[in-house]
Amino acid sequence: MPLPILALASDHGGFEMKALLAADLPLLGWAALDLGTSGPGSVDYPDFALALAQALKEGRAERGLLVCGTGIGISIAANRHAHIRAALVHDAFGARMCREHNDANVLVLGGRTTGPEIARDCLRLFLETPFEGGRHARRVAMLGDLGEK
Ligand code: RB5
Repeated sequence: MPLPILALASDHGGFEMKALLAADLPLLGWAALDLGTSGPGSVDYPDFALALAQALKEGRAERGLLVCGTGIGISIAANRHAHIRAALVHDAFGARMCREHNDANVLVLGGRTTGPEIARDCLRLFLETPFEGGRHARRVAMLGDLGEK
């Protein structure tokens, strides 16, 4: 069976963390779709959030990982797309809860604000934790409705 695919994208503030986390994916049973950036040259985070949102919309990846310096700009950009539920996470508890309660399909980390081992824990929990459903499914469905009002 083919491995599920995680799309990864970052700006220059996040490319080192993106590379670090991409290296963990085979151990976690996921394959990477790396959408850049791949170096320290200055780029614009909305471009990379858009590339990742399109990859998920087109079914080229099951979930996504976004990284910028703080995670803030790239999460704002990603959440403008109605099919994206991007969670900016700073610790293991947040990584678990964004899956259990919010069915987040994109994990967002800050390359300049979160340490590498915490980031690795966050990614593992994001990939391994199932959505709880139940009362949370109704609330997540309400998020989708917001775009239609
Ligand atoms: C880039 O310098 C920085 O502004 C960006 O990575 C991010 O932190 C924005 O939210």
